[in-house]
Amino acid sequence: MSWQDLQWQESMRIRVNINGMMSEQMGEWGLTKEELLALPLESAAQGMIDKRDQMKWRELPYNQDEIVADILATAAEIQARFENFVVLGIGGSALGPIAVHQALRHLHYNDLPAEKRGGPRLYIEDNVDPERMAALLDVIDVEKTMFNVITKSGSTSETMSQLLIITDILRGKLGQDISSHIIATTDKEKGNLIKIARREGWKTFYVPDGVGGRFSQLCPVGLLAAAVCGIDIRDMLAGAAYMDKLSAEPDIFKNPAYLLAAVQVAAMEKGCNIHVLMPYADSLRFFSDWYAQLWAESLGKQWDNDGNLIHAGQTPVKALGVTDQHSQVQLYTEGPFDKVVTFLGVERYRVTTPIPDGYLDIPDVSFLCGHTQNELIAAEQRATEYAIAKSGHLINTITLPEVNAFTVGQLLYLFEVMTAFAGELLNLNAFDQPGVEEGKNATYALLGKPGFDEKRAELESAPPDLDRYIV
Ligand code: PA5
Repeated sequence: MSWQDLQWQESMRIRVNINGMMSEQMGEWGLTKEELLALPLESAAQGMIDKRDQMKWRELPYNQDEIVADILATAAEIQARFENFVVLGIGGSALGPIAVHQALRHLHYNDLPAEKRGGPRLYIEDNVDPERMAALLDVIDVEKTMFNVITKSGSTSETMSQLLIITDILRGKLGQDISSHIIATTDKEKGNLIKIARREGWKTFYVPDGVGGRFSQLCPVGLLAAAVCGIDIRDMLAGAAYMDKLSAEPDIFKNPAYLLAAVQVAAMEKGCNIHVLMPYADSLRFFSDWYAQLWAESLGKQWDNDGNLIHAGQTPVKALGVTDQHSQVQLYTEGPFDKVVTFLGVERYRVTTPIPDGYLDIPDVSFLCGHTQNELIAAEQRATEYAIAKSGHLINTITLPEVNAFTVGQLLYLFEVMTAFAGELLNLNAFDQPGVEEGKNATYALLGKPGFDEKRAELESAPPDLDRYIV
């Protein structure tokens, strides 16, 4: 069976269950159908149609045949020549590749011997912690490493600092021509990286216009690293296309992405300003990081589209089932009614791990014998859903039949459409991030970037910290 088989596709459909959000199950704490229908659903659905042309990420499942062929050919060359593949990038240039790799490759991928890995080791350097760069350089041989520098804007300081360090080291080892060790992924025209890449003759992939960083996993930003590590990127794009069809339906009760957005927005209106995403699978744990950026940066906005001050947004929280049952769930059951917990479940894990017989004379231990860890994690998810819902806190569940490239493509696309639709419901621009700029500009000023003298003066004239509040 494969993604080309329609029956198989249907069997791999992601399901969304919002019963734990609704008053029929949750009583006074739940949302009523009327509350959902009172949202500006029609105008939001119309907005999604009218703005589809601007949301170029929605076309990625369909318009990349040539690019995918290039990526696959490039990936095959990298697999044959290199021991390591390093992504230099941050935010949307890193979180998607991390999430997809964790979901679809062995959980200890880098520790496997080469023949079992099926691709080079993968490192994604989404920070500028000096210890992290030093640690990377301790474990890779740069001469056996391909670097993929990714920045949509082509000017992000963190990524540029990584690039400067790596190009300097490469030149020290290889001489001036380092083009066989660097691939640039960036905007076709704008920014500094494209200038550098052209001047240096580096292989380049483009981030298409209208595809922002956090919506870029399904373009070369995410596809190259995935293909290099042996992930079937065509399956992933097919999964996204499948979810695109499901999310074309204007009726929220037939559209999983719209439904999730609608219940979140309605819950926000009732004071649920926190959204916990809790996958019950280690393979999906970094989806929470990717999703946190998507949801926070897209919806955390001061102004709406009409210039009204709104200070909108819901704080995303990352959790992992069952691990965080022993850390956060106490708060979710007994704490304030300010959050929604979304469970991300898996019907069939890729392995079955039986729990063998032992200590049969101790019933409190031996009740586990004869079961599997699969049954245990499923029971714990169900029990936690039950416990949190019973306490009156709102929950919903997204279930993947399996974690594979097709379902991961669906999940990425589901969250992207959900976020865009929530932006429409809230009448805000989900595709910019003006709040990030202030910090970026202040960093430029502190490090002496030309053109930021005024910002530097502003920073220097800020009131100093008072000694009495420093202990
Ligand atoms: O979603 C976004 O646009 C941002 O979070 C970016 O991904 C992040 O700031 C990195 O930007 P760039 O890809 O331009 O280096």
